[in-house]
Amino acid sequence: MTEQTITTTGEAAAPRAVFPDGFVWGAATASYQIEGAATEDGRGPSIWDTFSKTPGKVADGHTGDVACDHYHRYADDVRLMADLGLAAYRFSVAWPRVVPGGTGAVNAAGLDFYDRLVDELLAHGVTPYVTLYHWDLPQPLEDAGGWAARDTARHFADYAAVVHERLGDRVRTWTTLNEPWVAAFLGYCSGEHAPGRRDPAAAFRAAHHLLLGHGLAAQSLRAAGAAEVALTLNLSPVVQTDGGEDAARLVDGLLNRQFLDPALRGRYPEDLLEIVARHGGLGHIKDGDLDVIHQPLDLLGINYYNPTHVSAAPGQPAAPPFPGTEDIRFDPPAGPTTAMGWPIDPSGLESLLVRLSRDYPEVGLLVTENGAAFDDRPDGDRVRDDDRVAFLDGHLRAAHAAIAAGADLRGYLVWSLLDNFEWAFGYHKRFGIVYIDFETQRRVPKDSALWYREVVRRNGL
Ligand code: FCB
Repeated sequence: MTEQTITTTGEAAAPRAVFPDGFVWGAATASYQIEGAATEDGRGPSIWDTFSKTPGKVADGHTGDVACDHYHRYADDVRLMADLGLAAYRFSVAWPRVVPGGTGAVNAAGLDFYDRLVDELLAHGVTPYVTLYHWDLPQPLEDAGGWAARDTARHFADYAAVVHERLGDRVRTWTTLNEPWVAAFLGYCSGEHAPGRRDPAAAFRAAHHLLLGHGLAAQSLRAAGAAEVALTLNLSPVVQTDGGEDAARLVDGLLNRQFLDPALRGRYPEDLLEIVARHGGLGHIKDGDLDVIHQPLDLLGINYYNPTHVSAAPGQPAAPPFPGTEDIRFDPPAGPTTAMGWPIDPSGLESLLVRLSRDYPEVGLLVTENGAAFDDRPDGDRVRDDDRVAFLDGHLRAAHAAIAAGADLRGYLVWSLLDNFEWAFGYHKRFGIVYIDFETQRRVPKDSALWYREVVRRNGL
């Protein structure tokens, strides 16, 4: 790694930031957000099909029925990745395509799609990174209790084994879950995401069963010979703006340590257990569960978007996705934000990566998502998304600084390759480095994609 200042005539140059040899550059997507083909080739309904078709749940009634039509256009999309020079592509497998009932019969046609996709990636020199669960739970499993029910964890491990059996000869890196906090607390507590339940006790049970599913799946993947096993979490440094510490520590427990500590240390934080005990009790945490959850991990996937700011506020009711946060206020962002209203703060990525390598030194780190939505508008054949370039440049510099400070960061995957179905916001929020005209399905690499291609080519900034 080197750092130097290059001066070019006429413009003030930013310092160079060159990443370590072998640093992995890529982009990420998720099944329900891009695939479409919702009822094709035997795919069953997921909780997101049901939720998006429930009036009032998703902006303008948008659904993932067609999305980016990636199911049919995957070969074009892989060519695009190759044109951008990407070394890695993180995608998720749709459980309802592979096991439409959630448990039981395997749908061979669903597996065939991922088989073709993996072959296409490898033929173009792009390494596939598979995520097994990015929120599209088969609806029949939700009908049986969803993640609030313990059996779902076991069904998830069975499904993981099925996918590995088909793709394990070509895929090295297997991520069990994407963002279990979001799946549990937006899905079962605030109801902003599928399945739309508003039950804090169910959310804590869901969080535990997601972790249990992770552990069981990690065991079965490992037993089947998976080369690398990973878990992806949405992590956010929690900053207390009033100079205190207690509010930040409590929220850090809910958001970050609720998942980090069981997966990487085999125990729940005590401060978190006190909150869980007050919301339905601890009866769902059975003897031996934490040993199952605590599996050796090769990589921790980090999805970073912004830090979280809190302050002490006596009398404040708990914020919906955060049970137990009475007397704490989530402060509105000060300073610049993205089109999501999320604060832009690259320094949060640096501090997060440094903290993770300090507190959990045994696991390698991979940024599995980082990026931003802006209101992009095409200008002929061009999309001038300078704001996204600045966002990515800032975050990559922060990642580089974290490596210099000792973080074991192995790679960076931008969210997202394509504009896509942004959950409750439908198609209104564009995170892609490639613009999609959803009327025609035309793909237009934005300026940020062309900029990123240079970053990848130079292995740095
Ligand atoms: C993450 C999700 C991803 C995408 C980004 C913006 O929480 O994993 O699917 O929606 O946020």
